Parts: sequence; C-alpha cells; structure tokens
Amino acid sequence: MQRVLSGVQPSGDFHIGNYLGALRSWVQDQDENDAFYCIVDLHALTSSPNPDELRSRTIDAAINLLAVGLDPDRCTIFVQSQVPEHTRLTWLLECVATMGELGRMTQFKDKRDSSKSDRTSVGLFTYPVLQAADILLYNANRVPVGEDQRQHLELARELARRFNTRYSDIFVVPEASIPSRAARVMDLQYPERKMSKSIKSPLGTVAVLDRPSEIERKVKRAVTDSDTEVRYDPESKPGVSNLLELLGAATGATPESIASSYQSYGDLKSAVSEALIEMLRPVQERHDDLSKDIGSVKATLAKGNDAARAVAQRTYERAAQAVGLL
Ligand code: TYM
Repeated sequence: MQRVLSGVQPSGDFHIGNYLGALRSWVQDQDENDAFYCIVDLHALTSSPNPDELRSRTIDAAINLLAVGLDPDRCTIFVQSQVPEHTRLTWLLECVATMGELGRMTQFKDKRDSSKSDRTSVGLFTYPVLQAADILLYNANRVPVGEDQRQHLELARELARRFNTRYSDIFVVPEASIPSRAARVMDLQYPERKMSKSIKSPLGTVAVLDRPSEIERKVKRAVTDSDTEVRYDPESKPGVSNLLELLGAATGATPESIASSYQSYGDLKSAVSEALIEMLRPVQERHDDLSKDIGSVKATLAKGNDAARAVAQRTYERAAQAVGLL
C-alpha cells in the first residue's frame, strides 16, 4: 500500500480546476492507498487573509473535501497548523535549501512580479520548503496535484535527496502524480492563464458550488476565437481547447475525439455546461447537507489532526536526531 499526501489552500472558493486537477484523484486514491489530505492554512497566510475569513474558509475547505467524496473512515483529513511538526521540519529543510533554487520557483517569481515592489513576504519565498515539509513528514510515495505544482514537487524531491545524503536516509523521495486530463484548467475569460482561486476573474472561474444558471452563464460567455471550427489545438485555439478538455474530463472521453461531434461553439458550450452541472450536482447536494452540521465537520478534523500528528511526530524526531538536535 502506498502513502499518498496532498494539500489545498483554504484561500478562496474551490473551482473546477482544483476538482479536476486534484480533488477527484484524491477521492480515487483513498481506497487503495493510505491517504493524508491537508488543508494548508499556513500556506494561505502568505496572501494575508482576513483572520475571520481564514477561519471560516478552513472549515469550508473541510466541508468541500467531504462533499467531493472524501470519507474520513478511508483517509485522514487534517489542518496543517494543527500539526506543529510542519513548521518545525520546515526550519530543518530551510537549512538545506538554497536561495538560488527558491528564487527560481515560477510561482514565487509571478507573485513577486505582480506585486511590483520589494515588499514580497519572506513567507512567499520559503513557501515551497513548507510544502516539502508537508510531504516529507508523511513519507509520501505519491503526491496527486495539478500541473502547476510540478516544480514544487521537484524541489521536495531534491530536498529529500539532499537531506538523506547529508545526514541519513530519513525521507522517502516522493513522486508527483498529475492527471493525464485537465491537469491545467484554464480561465474561461483568459484561456492563456490557469483558473485560479487567488486571481479575481468572476466570469472566468467556475466554482464547485456555482449553481446551474451561473455555470451556464459563464460557459456561454467563455472566450473562444473568431474562427468557427471546433478543433482541439491548445496552441492556436486555447479557449475552445479548454472547453473540450473540460468536457473530456467530465465525461471520460478524449478532447480530440469529442471535437468532431460538435458543429458550432454554441453546441459545444451547451454540452460543456450540461456536463459540468451533472458532475457538480452530487457535490453541491452533499455540501448543503454537511453545512448544517459544522460540529461533526470539526470533530472529523480533530480526529484527523491527531492521526496526522502521530505520523508527523515520528518522522520529525528522526530528522531532528539526524541533524544533531538533543
Ligand atoms: P492550491 O490550493 O492552489 O490548489 C489545490 C490543488 O488544485 C490544483 N489546481 C489545478 N489543477 C488544474 N487546473 C487548475 N487551474 C488548477 N488550479 C489548482 C493544484 O495543482 C493543487 O493540486 N501549494 C499547493 C498546496 C500544497 C500542497 C502541499 C500540495 C501545500 N502543501 C503538499 C501537495 C502537497 C497549492 O497552493 O494548491
């Protein structure tokens, strides 16, 4: 049995990129693996959220994870800040990581460049080391993520190898597990950039909890191109290809094979809305039910936090001993 770990930030409404790129695989992985799923509230602090909002988003993230189909009897769902070994191991790994490799992280560079000042937080810079600690604490063999996390996973692998060589063989070197379809869902309005929780694009982002009329409206207004041919070609037809990718991921077909079934963008868009609405309906129904019993969601997290901590503590102690701490 493999150990699987992944994480999601409670930084905004979960969208279909999160669902198709990651959360759906998490649900599949809970059956055949020993799976740990972490709500990474410490990572969310890098965008300076309002404290009350962070608290409520953390609980809402848990509701969302249960609603998409995670079952606390088959996996461990926990909150990063409640397992202090994450920050403790981060320090050990920061003493192994280099400024150069962190400075090359594209997510850091993008965020720093968009803030246009030197007030970028240190947390944003060291973020990938915390992510490596999240993974390495649990001896994860496999990390199911979307395409945008590939570089962070490469860093986690490199830090594990370096630590093991410098001290002793403590960490498992994890593999990224990226889905073959919808690993990078694009914004419906700006199909050259990924759909994101943190960049505001109300019409370009389809939230997991968007109701059918919202989904129809957004898909209808999705940017395509001035051509009329329905063809899968991400380079020259990014908008249409993104819609085909979504339809393929929602229905289990390949975007190339679907393309020939549609004569117009209008037909394609109707099919995409319908498929997304059907895909999200059961998730939304479960979300509505779970939201009525926050007490039991909090109890699920408390149980998950304890289970996660038991694993994390063991790994941290071994790492701390290896580097020479008393
Ligand atoms: P986050 O919260 O941005 O996203 C959660 C997961 O959703 C995937 N994802 C996407 N997949 C396809 N298309 C998109 N447009 C899209 N947007 C997001 C992400 O790849 C991710 O798998 N740094 C991570 C959280 C993290 C983590 C970890 C992940 C912290 N520690 C340890 C794995 C292991 C992040 O910000 O994900």
